[in-house]
Amino acid sequence: MARKKIALIGAGNIGGSMAHLCLLKGLGDVVLFDVVEGLPQGKALDLSHAGPVEGFDGDVIGTNSYEDIAGADVCIVTAGIARKPGMSRDDLLGTNAKILSSVGEGIKRYAPNSLVIVVTNPLDAMVTLMKRVTGFPKNRVVGQSGILDSSRYRSFIARELNVSVNSVAAMVLGGHGDDMVPVRSTCIVGGVAVEKLIPSKRLDEIEARVRNAGGEVVALLKTGSAYFSPASAAIRMTEAHLYDKKEILPCAALLEGEYGVDGYYFCVPVMIGAGGVEKIIDIHLNTADKKAFDESLNHVKDIVQAMDRVLGV
Ligand code: LAC
Repeated sequence: MARKKIALIGAGNIGGSMAHLCLLKGLGDVVLFDVVEGLPQGKALDLSHAGPVEGFDGDVIGTNSYEDIAGADVCIVTAGIARKPGMSRDDLLGTNAKILSSVGEGIKRYAPNSLVIVVTNPLDAMVTLMKRVTGFPKNRVVGQSGILDSSRYRSFIARELNVSVNSVAAMVLGGHGDDMVPVRSTCIVGGVAVEKLIPSKRLDEIEARVRNAGGEVVALLKTGSAYFSPASAAIRMTEAHLYDKKEILPCAALLEGEYGVDGYYFCVPVMIGAGGVEKIIDIHLNTADKKAFDESLNHVKDIVQAMDRVLGV
């Protein structure tokens, strides 16, 4: 079986972490792209020196040329600037929209059959832009948001109850902003609804922390945003695709009628397999969750409109 080719567009902290994960997990050969000269080449060389220690044979190259992503099976886009303390994800809009427009052109030209996973913020707008620029079908353009947000929810609940993270299932849906929606009814600990285990007031506090968790990391790091966990989240999607797992994961997918949403990328549970986003799973939301979901959608609509103004569309 030929090795898969994974193109990582952006060789910053998330790009580097994803390259390391791809190689450790033996997912295929990695191309690390960045516009900054030397950065992807240096990281690739360093990573290749970990091969003999870890026992991986995957090839890794660094490049400043889109030609090198030719024929990639998966392109994961982290290119763009990250938040600094005090900034919201939306503050990145103008700069990252311009960067993603050219990234989209490069992917369209050189990796026309790839699955594109967008990680760059503001996520819901950037994945919308990627879909437009590439013109790829909706099953092949998807945003990473909910796996990370849900993982934060699961992590906080596991620590609160002192149980394994593997025993906690939970989904955070909606936009990847401060009004994301941790759906309490999806939070199940070893088969038991979380509401039976943690008082409602305490769950409110935990969910508020989930919504602000990305900002909490930014405030601590001061020079950028989270990277280990976003990298793990995007690679989880990559594995689901490459191994045709048909795994149900919360991701930003283009909704065309599902959940009463038409024409917007929004995080909902989707099935990821060889065909990319193979299915959108419609789960029942209660009235309070639906209200929060709709408020989050209004924010996504605003940010997409703001993007269109920036791009002069
Ligand atoms: C976060 C950024 C990466 O949630 O969006 O940490």
